This record gives sequence, C-alpha cells and structure tokens, in this order.
Amino acid sequence: MPINIKFRLSGMLIAVLLVSACEKTPADYRAPVTLPEYTQGNADQGAIIYGDACAQCHQLTPGLNKKGPQLMNIYGASAAELADYDYSDALSSSGWVWDAETLDPYIADAEKAMPGSKMLSDPMPDANERADVIAYLSTLRAAAPVSTEDQ
Ligand code: HEC
Repeated sequence: MPINIKFRLSGMLIAVLLVSACEKTPADYRAPVTLPEYTQGNADQGAIIYGDACAQCHQLTPGLNKKGPQLMNIYGASAAELADYDYSDALSSSGWVWDAETLDPYIADAEKAMPGSKMLSDPMPDANERADVIAYLSTLRAAAPVSTEDQ
C-alpha cells in the first residue's frame, strides 16, 4: 500500500477514535429490580398503553436513549441515574425513587408533578391506565451486564 494512503487511513482512524472518545459516554444501565411486581394494574394492557404513550420517547435497551432516557429496570430505581443521558436539573436533584407513589403523579402530568422536568408527555388523567402502565414498567427486568473490565 502506498505510504501516503497508509497515513491518510491512520489519520482517519485517529480522527474517528478522537470523535467517539469525546462524544460518547459508555452505555449506562440500572441495577436489577428488587421490588416485587406491581399487581394493582394489568401489565399486558399497560404494554399497549406504553406503546401509544411512551415508546416514541423511551427505549428499553441500555445505551439507546431517545428524547427520554431508556427505562429498563426503572421500577425501584433512583431518578436520573444514567450517566449517558442529559437529565434536567429538576429531575437530577429530585431525590425521587421510581415506585408506584412517584410514577403515578409523574405519568399523570410530569410538568405539574415536577416543575422543570423536561418530560413533555401528554397528561394521562385515567388512574386505571396509569396503574396498568406502572404494572408494565414493574415487569421490565434485565440482569446487569457482566463487565469485562476491572472497575
Ligand atoms: C415527549 C417525550 C416523552 C414521552 C411521550 C414520555 N416521556 Fe418519559 N421522559 C422524557 C424525557 C425528556 C425525560 C427526562 C426528564 C428530565 O430530565 O427532566 C423522561 C423521563 C422519564 C422517567 C425518569 C427516568 C429516570 O431515569 O429517572 C420516567 C420514569 C419516564 N420518563 C416514564 C415515562 C412513561 C411511563 C411515559 C408514558 C406514560 C413517558 N415517560 C412518556 C420524555 C418523554
């Protein structure tokens, strides 16, 4: 391979590495859920409502944050835990833990429940629908990934 092409290629590689090192925070994930599932709503129904009302802004895979942070293992987790998502100050400093008591008002009307939160979802006034969504969220459980690095 001509030497100038080699240089060009390694220069490009270094540029790509630098850009990804600067712009990407490694995918973060929440610890496995320890709370029992929430049974005061219907999780199957909740999955359908979630698809209509939440999925356009939320993913369930670590590293795949959309407009909102991914929600895997959210039930029982502290608010604003993910290092790879840019949370509002309001949510970061809330001290909230996501159980039925906090999810219910937040899903009902996020802007009212937490002024300054940047979740601009439509309000969900129906308490049964919210219970179904909370039941569904409580079923979202994944084991923590095994790390190959010593940390
Ligand atoms: C229009 C986009 C949008 C929709 C629709 C939406 N969210 Fe969000 N959500 C967000 C954003 C943005 C945040 C980050 C809020 C912040 O930083 O203040 C968020 C944050 C959250 C959090 C806190 C996550 C954490 O890591 O602390 C939960 C829980 C949540 N949303 C649940 C839901 C549920 C359940 C629904 C459906 C009923 C929903 N969201 C619909 C955009 C949305």
